[in-house]
Amino acid sequence: MSKNRPTQKNEISYSEADLEAGRRALIRGWSSGAEPVQMIFTRAKGALVWDSTGKEYIDCTSQAWSNNIGATDDRILAAAWSQMQNLTHLRSNYDSVPLLLLSKELAQSAPGKLKRVGYCLHGSMAVEMAVKIAVKNRPNSGPLITLYDGYHGRSLATMGWSWPHINNDFNSLFPPVVRIPHPYHYRYALPGEKPVQMARRCANILRDTIHYAVNGKPAAFLMEPVQGNGTQLDFPPEYYHYVREICTEENVLLIWDEIQTGMGRCGTMWAAEYYGVEPDIIIFGKGVGGGFPLAGIIAREDLIGFEPGDDALTFGQFPVSLAAGLAALRVLKEDKLLDNCKKMGAYATKLLHEFEKRHPLIGNVRGPGLNIGIELVRDRNTKEPAAHEALQVYSRGLDQGVIFGTTRYGGIGNVVKIKPPLCINQEQMDHVLEVFDQILTEIEEKR
Ligand SMILES: Cc1ncc(COP(=O)(O)O)c(C=O)c1O
Repeated sequence: MSKNRPTQKNEISYSEADLEAGRRALIRGWSSGAEPVQMIFTRAKGALVWDSTGKEYIDCTSQAWSNNIGATDDRILAAAWSQMQNLTHLRSNYDSVPLLLLSKELAQSAPGKLKRVGYCLHGSMAVEMAVKIAVKNRPNSGPLITLYDGYHGRSLATMGWSWPHINNDFNSLFPPVVRIPHPYHYRYALPGEKPVQMARRCANILRDTIHYAVNGKPAAFLMEPVQGNGTQLDFPPEYYHYVREICTEENVLLIWDEIQTGMGRCGTMWAAEYYGVEPDIIIFGKGVGGGFPLAGIIAREDLIGFEPGDDALTFGQFPVSLAAGLAALRVLKEDKLLDNCKKMGAYATKLLHEFEKRHPLIGNVRGPGLNIGIELVRDRNTKEPAAHEALQVYSRGLDQGVIFGTTRYGGIGNVVKIKPPLCINQEQMDHVLEVFDQILTEIEEKR
């Protein structure tokens, strides 16, 4: 596996004492010490990453689901380097060439009337940008509606719109929000309730909430089409259409947070395309910058935009990220990564359903594309969450050179995620599944 390891170059020199001093200097909960195993990563290429000891891993997290086209692609680096030599920073009231070209491309990539693009560098800020646009278009509105287990970021506003942070230190600063139940069929269906029935029931709760539960009609309903940080959950397909219909009827804007689902992860450029639904605003982030920080929104062309002073941040239109983003869209097409995502996603999902037959730990396998979540349970009847076992998959996976994702930050912590870069090849995917199969066998044998 290690034949692809790139040569060491441009390494920063350091001593162990320097690293230790750095660890002490880092604010707790930021990075150092947040993981059960302490590692320093030094390189990444495609679907692979290497730590400072030279150990190689297949990265099923795409580093927070962001290296969608693969890490450090030479074409992205060349585009970024070329931009860097000419212009690295530009005040947000001026235009740059990559700003205009990427806007054209992103507007073309989005469905229907979604034709206006705005930028920032972080997903959380993009979510706030989308909500600001919604409020500009629906003035004097009531609180935002979001879903149980939704995740929209860690700025003060987006934390407040995310899953409940019980006894959170920042609660008093959060904006008003109403959270409604999501159609999490595996866990919360009523006895005998079919997915489509649950989709209808939950969609009706949206309508009732708009009618009866809030003071003032909400400007928007904000949701992730596939909940990433929650429990890696997709909904019954009908749900997407039901909420679209309700938002249209009620004149409430439908915002899809596609920060994780966008840039090809469902096997289509946007989840909106995959589910055949046109939201009013799509929020993007993570993979769109090809490994460079880039986020923003694509809004319906008839929505009112911003006035000077409403939004634009200092580094809001970072030309290097825009150039990288433009190159990332080219790579997505040139390398037919959407096809590979569909192919590898379908292959892995099929095999995981085979595993389900012989691994009682597997309760539910979810998709679509390379958005794979495997919910682990201690008992299929009680569905007792196997959170400790999910962590075991993570740490044993590291020993065997695979970084699995887990839902440690939200939901109930018992979902293993396989969301590698879309360029993952057959050999790498086979290795990931083999390691997963073997770890589950080991855990089950010891029970
Ligand atoms: C769906 C979703 N929305 C928003 C965010 C926040 O993005 P960022 O961390 O870039 O601010 C994330 C990040 O994990 C996310 O997954």
